[in-house]
Amino acid sequence: MAKSNADLLVLGAAELLTCRGPADGIRGEALRAVELIRDGGLALAAGRIAAVGTSAEIAARFQAPRVIDAAGKLVTPGLVDPHSHLLYGGTRHEEYEAKVTQRSPAARLDGGIRYTVRKTREASDAALVRQALADLDVMLEHGTTTLEAKTGYGLEREQELRLLRLTAGLAHAVDVVPTFLALHVLPEEYAGRRAEYLELAAGALAEAAQLAPYCDVSCDPICFSFDECLAVGEAARRLGMQIRVHADQFGDARGALLAARLGASAADHLDYASDEGLRAMAAAGTVATLLPGVTLHLCEMTPRFAAGRLAEAEKPFMPLVARRAIESGAVVALSTDYNPGSCPTPSMQLVMQLAARLFRLGYAEIWNMCTLNAARALDRAHDRGSLEAGKRADVLVWSVPHHGLVINRFGVNLVDTVIAAGKVAVRNGRILSPSAAHPKEEAPCHSA
Ligand code: NIG
Ligand code: FE
Repeated sequence: MAKSNADLLVLGAAELLTCRGPADGIRGEALRAVELIRDGGLALAAGRIAAVGTSAEIAARFQAPRVIDAAGKLVTPGLVDPHSHLLYGGTRHEEYEAKVTQRSPAARLDGGIRYTVRKTREASDAALVRQALADLDVMLEHGTTTLEAKTGYGLEREQELRLLRLTAGLAHAVDVVPTFLALHVLPEEYAGRRAEYLELAAGALAEAAQLAPYCDVSCDPICFSFDECLAVGEAARRLGMQIRVHADQFGDARGALLAARLGASAADHLDYASDEGLRAMAAAGTVATLLPGVTLHLCEMTPRFAAGRLAEAEKPFMPLVARRAIESGAVVALSTDYNPGSCPTPSMQLVMQLAARLFRLGYAEIWNMCTLNAARALDRAHDRGSLEAGKRADVLVWSVPHHGLVINRFGVNLVDTVIAAGKVAVRNGRILSPSAAHPKEEAPCHSA
């Protein structure tokens, strides 16, 4: 029988993890298993996966001008990171040192957010874009092939829309999905004028809907209330936007219930979400996205920690929400929440490692949460998030042979090769066409 033509074959993988599952996400007990093919192979054609199987099956059916030898290596889907704030100015490293050394009391996060807002407003468009592209290069080298990117550090209408336009215009091998963060925190200049601010935020939605599929609202004791978020979320829905929610990070503001009520694609953080809220999300099909990098980095800022009220089982500082979210029946995903204040790591690998340690999750659970379920959090599980014929050819070859080693061996980049939409973008852990190779005529914007 004549062989079919493909563009690229990957053969000989020690383990090929498909992360296959239902397109509406993997829940409950099913999270504990992940499909694995030994001596696995793949054929890629026209930016899509043509076939997945054993190396012998793939080599018998396909021929291609290029073959990647994955002997002794793990092959997986590209990682999907469904929550980041990609564009921002300045850094918050000084605040971090003061906090960890306890030289100053852990300040409230909204104060830090307002500092980043000032630095972001000062940064030029060119500096913001250059920094975002450099960050995307690092994410790609660490295995992220799809990234959700929210605004949030403009706060004021024109500044938020500026960030959204810049985000929507980014061209990179990482597929960037933009979100308009309509409600983050109340800007300083609107203190005492909440109603006016809410009206302005809703007024920006018509333009935002032209640039982004998603609108996000923050329903949290230090952000906005259930009713405030409901009004803006419903306005966004009427304009055809889908909803994401920053929910219940510093206390139960009924953010999980709000997300379910709005039929949100995902609600994120959830450290203080009620069981009732998590169950409502499970019933509504709203993905629960957990952010272990934030848990690690904020630590003493969380109210339970600050009040010395951590349960024995939570010590040193792990919230139990991960297990509660799984038991509620919700689809659970993991993400960085990449931003300068609560999670400055761009690495989903580190998130996977922290999810095991801090949330006590197993290897299969973590892989499912960073691939298919993370794609589901972006309503893209039909198109990516697993290695299956017909899906986008986002494929990672790792420098280790076992999927458990990616989670166990922390602190170094374990990615060897990244294929994004069928194109080899990273080889031997190095990006092939770095965005940052262009000469810098202006200082980068991540300086304090
Ligand atoms: O997504 N309400 C939380 N907002 C951000 C915090 C970012 C920052 O500290 O700048 C979040 O975690
Ligand atoms: Fe966030």
